[in-house]
Amino acid sequence: MKGLILSGGKGTRLYPLTFTSAKQLIPVANKPVLFRVIESIHDAGIDEIGIVVGDTAPEIKQAVGNGSRWGVKITYIHQEAPLGLAHAVKISRDFLGDDRFVMFLGDNVIQGGISRLIEQFADSSWNSQIVLTEVAHPEQYGVAELDEEGRIVRLVEKPKVPPSNLALVGIYMFDHHIFEAVNAITPSWRGELEITDAIQWLVEQGYDVYPYIHRGWWIDTGRPGDMLEANSLVLEELQPHIDGYVDRESVVDSRVTVEQGAEVINSVIRGPAIIGRNTRIVNAYVGPFTSIYHDCLIRDSEIERSIVLEHSRIEALPARIQDSLIGRHVVITQSPVRPKAIRLTLGDYSNLGLL
Ligand code: G1P
Repeated sequence: MKGLILSGGKGTRLYPLTFTSAKQLIPVANKPVLFRVIESIHDAGIDEIGIVVGDTAPEIKQAVGNGSRWGVKITYIHQEAPLGLAHAVKISRDFLGDDRFVMFLGDNVIQGGISRLIEQFADSSWNSQIVLTEVAHPEQYGVAELDEEGRIVRLVEKPKVPPSNLALVGIYMFDHHIFEAVNAITPSWRGELEITDAIQWLVEQGYDVYPYIHRGWWIDTGRPGDMLEANSLVLEELQPHIDGYVDRESVVDSRVTVEQGAEVINSVIRGPAIIGRNTRIVNAYVGPFTSIYHDCLIRDSEIERSIVLEHSRIEALPARIQDSLIGRHVVITQSPVRPKAIRLTLGDYSNLGLL
């Protein structure tokens, strides 16, 4: 089998972070979401992976390279515009050939990996298998209707009146018949070739499409709140280890990871949390569900349930930072300069919640 990861898109809902960075490269528990996707495909025994890229191609190529770090071979496939998931399949025909493949959206995080579902599909003669999970708001997703025997009857993309609460998770398995489907369908109201329509076409033609009901958590990291949620869930499952330095004055919880070269001085860290390479935490409090990426400084400040990206500095804050997503090279400090005022240099689409 081969793997196909979709990693295009502009990530508008994560502005301003995604003005300068691909959304798939935002880290969750200090590892980019895209790297987690590559690892779960590799763990399922697949070593040939195609990545569909768009405007952010240079950055993704630079971060991922040829895949040798994971023992996989990466082929990049360029999509000239975000014309839909089925369009991404269409342009990947040369790479995929007649092989069976798994398609995984590069901004999705799923509990437990995908080895089990890949196994089921690889051992079958099914034409497609789709992963479904129960969600609270099915109208925001592709939704499946099943019959009494659990077979797929119908799929609808973002229905106003959902036929069930089973959403299509961004993981799909196909054989080469999907190319007939993507060539047969036409663009939806949003101008995209929808993978949901392509799968519906397979069902209508009598091809075997089976569901796999996923019982754990799954997060599509489209919005800042989703990133924080995914971060919390992944941190809960992380095997903690202390490779950096923690001084005697500090109190560090058992569910805390301190990466190499990091320093924790006179601070309290409550897990689950992770402190990245060469980051310094000095006279500070880092609360549960927090990931501080590498080369940061947190001094005389408190932070909780947040993600801080690399090279950022937070110093001498009078209040605790909470539920926040902070980009790269950000500086947040209390200024000694009078008059006492808030001085900001914010990028476009920044979001600031003051006291
Ligand atoms: C896409 C699919 C949708 C699926 C979702 C999962 O939606 O079209 O069926 O439920 O991914 O994340 P989009 O993110 O393009 O709105």
